[in-house]
Amino acid sequence: MENRQINFFKSKDLNTINKPLKKGSLVEIESFDIREKQKKLNVGLFGWYAICPSKELKKNKLHYFSLYDEPLIIYRDKNENVRCIKNICPHRGASFFGGTLSNGVITCPYHGAEFSSGGSCQNLDRITCSHIVDNNYDNYAKRIHLSQYKALEKDEYIFVYFSNKSDTDLKNIIEDSPISNYELSNNGFSYQDYVSEEVFVDFKCDWSRIIENHLDILHLFWVHGDTIPDKDVNKNVLVSFNQKINVTNEYIESIYFYKNEPKKEFIRIRFMPPGRILIYKGDPSISRYLQVLDHIPLGNNKARVIVRHYRKFLKNKLLNNLILFKENQRKIFYKIFDEDYIILKTQTYNNNLGLINKDEIKLLGEDRIINYFWKWYKKSEDKDKPWKNINKTENLSVYDKFILKYPPEIKRLEVINNIEIIRKTFTRFVGPLLILMLII
Ligand code: FES
Ligand SMILES: [Fe+2]
Repeated sequence: MENRQINFFKSKDLNTINKPLKKGSLVEIESFDIREKQKKLNVGLFGWYAICPSKELKKNKLHYFSLYDEPLIIYRDKNENVRCIKNICPHRGASFFGGTLSNGVITCPYHGAEFSSGGSCQNLDRITCSHIVDNNYDNYAKRIHLSQYKALEKDEYIFVYFSNKSDTDLKNIIEDSPISNYELSNNGFSYQDYVSEEVFVDFKCDWSRIIENHLDILHLFWVHGDTIPDKDVNKNVLVSFNQKINVTNEYIESIYFYKNEPKKEFIRIRFMPPGRILIYKGDPSISRYLQVLDHIPLGNNKARVIVRHYRKFLKNKLLNNLILFKENQRKIFYKIFDEDYIILKTQTYNNNLGLINKDEIKLLGEDRIINYFWKWYKKSEDKDKPWKNINKTENLSVYDKFILKYPPEIKRLEVINNIEIIRKTFTRFVGPLLILMLII
């Protein structure tokens, strides 16, 4: 059992289900590749990224973020449609930090240029100072325009189509992959039947390492065994699985079946490039719980993860509030992220120094989906070259203050959440009890 290199395609009865853990072993997985011939992922690193939940984007609010170190903004225009623009004023290149958004009109804080919902400048007389020197408005009006990416709302998320070129005219942007691929209803899942909550975390590490982590079933038992409230995810119990890998044009998927109940799914992990992972707890058609994880490559060693979990149990709002379900669930998620963080940071460090090279990495059979992921990632990086704006200089972190919205040190998020738990417990239980005692 010490040496667990597993042969693909070979069936062997490991006969180890639920036996006490032997040193050095956790999970036994046999892999079966059911890839259809010629099918391979046809989406690279350019494509639709879920940036935030719809409800986060309020009227007259500029939401700052970045993709591959390119500073961007999303907001609602005067018709409440979502827009994604470069956070660079086309007049003299200032950012819009400190500017305003009112009724879909963005005003630059540097010289007061106002940009309409469509992106054109609507107060040229002001910025050209034409009343002083310049009278060539018309010519200038054609040139000054916000540069945009396509953005839309789907399944209560804001999506942005990122590629190598923004444009002043959205009609010039051709999508390689349709948004319908990401629709939850097209992934065997009708989200209206569930209740959902979100957790956000910003990491100071490479975003692809986080995706790798979320594709990795093995570490669940070892790293998160004491935190995940599932009796089968336990580092003291050995569970055996059969694994099936599906490869389609839109996703790669790994399904784990219990070995002692071959038709029963333990977990299904679906990676939809460029940044989404769906985790189904059991068969999607009957799953009571599903997680949607969106990974956002903010920049060099800066990444955001949005986890939205959908559940069919505990749907009663009042009961949820009473037992502080959301806050307690967050607590678990922060702990899980914290357990991963040092691993992700050290992997990033090792990789950036060129210390993780192919020859030194020995993947196991269980790591098959990870192998697919890295092959796709490297190929897509070579083809799309999304890191062309990469900020290699750590001290050029002028945007961090605005872009890293959720503190990268997870401990701080945990403290904020714990304070919230104490505050709510007090206002809901202790406070009223004290008042009652005083009255009596
Ligand atoms: S840089 Fe924005 S108005 Fe001048
Ligand atoms: Fe993890």
